[in-house]
Amino acid sequence: MKVQITSEEQMPVAALDVQEGRKFFIKNYGCQMNVYDAERMEDMLAPYGFEKIADAKEADLVILNTCHIREKADEKVFSDIGRVTKGNKRNPLIAIGGCMGQAMGRTIMQRSPKVNIVFGPQTYHRLPEFIARSGLAAGKRKRVLDTDFPALEKFDSLAPQGLRGPSAYVTIQEGCDKFCTYCVVPFTRGVELSRTVESILTEIRALAEKGAKEVCLLGQNVNAYHGLGSDGKECNLARLLQQVATIDGIERIRFTTSHPSEMDNELIELFGKERKLMPYLHLPVQAGSDKILVDMNRTHTADEYLQIIDLLRMARPDVAISGDFIVGFPGETDEDFEMTMDLVREVGYSSAYSFMYSPRPNTPAAENTNQVPLEVKKERLQRLQDLLTEQQKAYNNSFVGKTIPVLLEEAGRKENQLRGRSPHNIAVNVEGNQRLLGQQIHVNITKATASSLFGEVKLD
Ligand code: SAH
Ligand code: SF4
Ligand code: F3S
Repeated sequence: MKVQITSEEQMPVAALDVQEGRKFFIKNYGCQMNVYDAERMEDMLAPYGFEKIADAKEADLVILNTCHIREKADEKVFSDIGRVTKGNKRNPLIAIGGCMGQAMGRTIMQRSPKVNIVFGPQTYHRLPEFIARSGLAAGKRKRVLDTDFPALEKFDSLAPQGLRGPSAYVTIQEGCDKFCTYCVVPFTRGVELSRTVESILTEIRALAEKGAKEVCLLGQNVNAYHGLGSDGKECNLARLLQQVATIDGIERIRFTTSHPSEMDNELIELFGKERKLMPYLHLPVQAGSDKILVDMNRTHTADEYLQIIDLLRMARPDVAISGDFIVGFPGETDEDFEMTMDLVREVGYSSAYSFMYSPRPNTPAAENTNQVPLEVKKERLQRLQDLLTEQQKAYNNSFVGKTIPVLLEEAGRKENQLRGRSPHNIAVNVEGNQRLLGQQIHVNITKATASSLFGEVKLD
């Protein structure tokens, strides 16, 4: 089938009209950077009369903000394209954004004739224009594909960020130059680029004025941040964090995801110095075998990783460490895998994400002829996850009987239940009145599971 796509040259820039009562539905896949992007899309669409709704059946516009990291993520999107529009009588406009849109734009257009718009993580600020170009009225729609890499233009064109709760994400850095041999991110998000210090501080000041108490700075390689300061010099993450800490109203600061090779001493020491910097670090290692780490192009050894953890614990003894792991990378032997298990035992993680290696198009590891059989990958993943769950349970249990500060972020699943996070980034469920939402309160922890804590509000 030939795909008819509107190209830049053929189409004049179109402006979307404003009309109240429009409804859009968005489904998010993947990492926190997509969560931030989806929130910014909502902010972009609101002035044009679009209201976000939770039921795809009632939407005039359906957006799938996709992830391309593993094969499963792709498959899910293709099946969702049909599913989310089922039963919708409004003939919605279907837009695919995110990393899969970036990497597979043309394929998506070919495989799914229903899709009207495809865009990527660097072009979503043009969404109102894409909608205008495509046309909201059914029957006369054109197909629009825009997966440019217009550097950091996006951040200058976005609508001001709305506040959705006391904790807000702020993307400070985009893309990745690390080219781990299994990973698609450098192709979907582009090269590593840092926003300027002023643009980040302005965004956080505005959030703090609206009531934000916590910010989480985001980037695929957040600790490689090197944005331009107002003095015309490059600023690193440690110095940026110190400036964020001076903003009135901001009580808690986090950042994610960090790369071990970019953990400089200044940043490590800040964990012991800056009270607002929360004692939690997500530091993926992926594997415990140096041979595998070399093949992955991770640029550090297992020992170097462990040394960073030691230094962090010297700076801040209670720092919680979280990680990412890949099992069954091509060429991984039983001995290699045991080294991952040993490393996990040595570190003692408070939480972790672990995955079976998934071969991705155009990545070097996918070409490797030494692929590990699925059954072996499954078994290794099970063993690793059992160990990580055990560690997580023990970690969470260590808080039972203690009183900890919790920032209450949202209503819980049950009536009169509120949910928040501890400084060490554990989800905490508390019985309490809705009016406490947005406040940082003290909680007596009474119970722990592998994934969360339960407690009661401590009355002073
Ligand atoms: N920039 C971050 C996170 C990238 S994606 C980092 O460097 O750690 C999040 C996680 O997905 C990775 O840490 C890795 O564990 C996992 N991942 C990435 N590519 C994968 C693949 N091809 N197969 C399985 N897991 C993968
Ligand atoms: Fe992917 Fe590696 Fe970059 Fe992380 S550091 S985004 S795993 S290439
Ligand atoms: Fe997925 Fe893209 Fe994030 S591939 S993990 S959504 S950067």
